Amino acid sequence: MTSVQTYTDLESLAQAAAEQCITVTQSAIAAQGFATIALAGGSTPRALYQLLATDTYAARVDWANVHLFWGDERTVAPDHADSNYRMVREALLDHVPIPATNVHRLPGEQSPEQAANSYEQELRSFFHLHSASLVEYNGQLFPPFDLILLGMGDDGHTASLFPHTAALSERKRWVVANHVPQQDTWRLTLTYPLISAANHVTFFVAGAKKATTLQQVLRGPHQPELLPSQLIQPVNGELVWLVDDAAARALELAK
Ligand code: 6PG
Repeated sequence: MTSVQTYTDLESLAQAAAEQCITVTQSAIAAQGFATIALAGGSTPRALYQLLATDTYAARVDWANVHLFWGDERTVAPDHADSNYRMVREALLDHVPIPATNVHRLPGEQSPEQAANSYEQELRSFFHLHSASLVEYNGQLFPPFDLILLGMGDDGHTASLFPHTAALSERKRWVVANHVPQQDTWRLTLTYPLISAANHVTFFVAGAKKATTLQQVLRGPHQPELLPSQLIQPVNGELVWLVDDAAARALELAK
């Protein structure tokens, strides 16, 4: 099931996303004793992470049983200005009582292929240890993350699944190194089948510069090579688009 929810501004958008994070983690912990969230990088979700770090919200999260992962990472050290881990550490991890063993960092400092392989191994070990029933997607098995948060670039990419890159064709692996010629760099990313196997997938999109792309992704023809966000089609889970009014402007006009 896909839903698009619009909010006036980034603050109310972050509040809605924080409520969803809390609801999903509380029900997952009640059901299985732990919750798994893969976090989005970039800049938009910083407001969400900062909100979750405030006393009011942080007190509502059972941090001892929440496990945090990353949906993608740049190939940089964890203290680099471009690191998604650093952004989350500064906005959230430094302010909440989450055990270090619950923070599963994507090792961007390793060589790209080594980082992808070691993170995939970490995921496999974690979900095996927690006896999670894997989800079948096109004949392959993937882990059932409770929540995967995603951003969307104005080129339609999500995580580090960029237009016309090799990762868009990956149907077996859980984590890959993806060469992104547009940025002359390597990125590390969860694959689209893994993301699609999650129980809840939430896109978190804000700003007028995303409006045209959002309209194309949601209302335009299916062309995932050009708009990789269209690849995300949850097998069993719920797909929610949390967007602000500025990003939703083209959607409203198209009605
Ligand atoms: C990254 C992100 C990426 C991000 C989009 C949107 O590593 O940059 O994971 O997929 O979500 O680029 O970024 P903004 O939220 O900064 O617009």
